[in-house]
Amino acid sequence: MIVVIDGPAGSGKSSTARAVAERLKIQFLDSGALYRVATLIYLNSQNNGDSFFDALKESDISFYFKEKKFHVLLNHSDVSDEIRAMHVANAVSTVAAMPEVRAFVNALMRQAVQSGIYIADGRDLGTAVFPDAELKFFMIADLDERARRRLSELEAKGEQTTFDEVRKNIEDRDLKDSSRASDPLKQADDAILVNTSGLTFEDQVQMISEHVQQLIAKNA
Ligand code: DC
Repeated sequence: MIVVIDGPAGSGKSSTARAVAERLKIQFLDSGALYRVATLIYLNSQNNGDSFFDALKESDISFYFKEKKFHVLLNHSDVSDEIRAMHVANAVSTVAAMPEVRAFVNALMRQAVQSGIYIADGRDLGTAVFPDAELKFFMIADLDERARRRLSELEAKGEQTTFDEVRKNIEDRDLKDSSRASDPLKQADDAILVNTSGLTFEDQVQMISEHVQQLIAKNA
């Protein structure tokens, strides 16, 4: 069973999905993290002068959710923190626009969710990757609010950046993610719209948890 939350960068979908997964003891899948790993491979291949698509195919990528954290391993090394750095964020929308990368990440995700109950967050999960998902949400929030949230996450990790740089990165990514030809960021017709600007974090976690609990009870 899969529940998806799509939406623009910093709308709160990832932290909400993670908290819902923790509360309901279900699995969490962070699709953006997989695009970030692909971007790390891209940046490494550029530095080394290697072919990106060969490097991508030859890479061993694995992931798991444990103790409130989504871990991603690249060739058996944990890169979960490295993929959050600004140099990765600045390149990720370009890499995620490549159809070969999307096909690669989609295959990883479809393989992962074959058994168990998952909540996943991304941009195109409800429209392209899991169009038959049992429950879909589309989460939005004001741009300034999203930039503030992302800045405090980065500051907490010790990253040197500014509000303006983070706001610009989010704005650029929104534009690239929603205007690309291949599976753009888009609300699915059957997704529930959640505007988190006026909601507390607890409100949004509670609201989504209730929907998921109802679905689990219905399918029991
Ligand atoms: O959720 P995030 O900010 O970590 O995502 C990083 C980038 O990955 C985002 O700017 C666009 C891309 N992405 C995507 O194209 N499709 C998804 N399903 C998830 C993320």
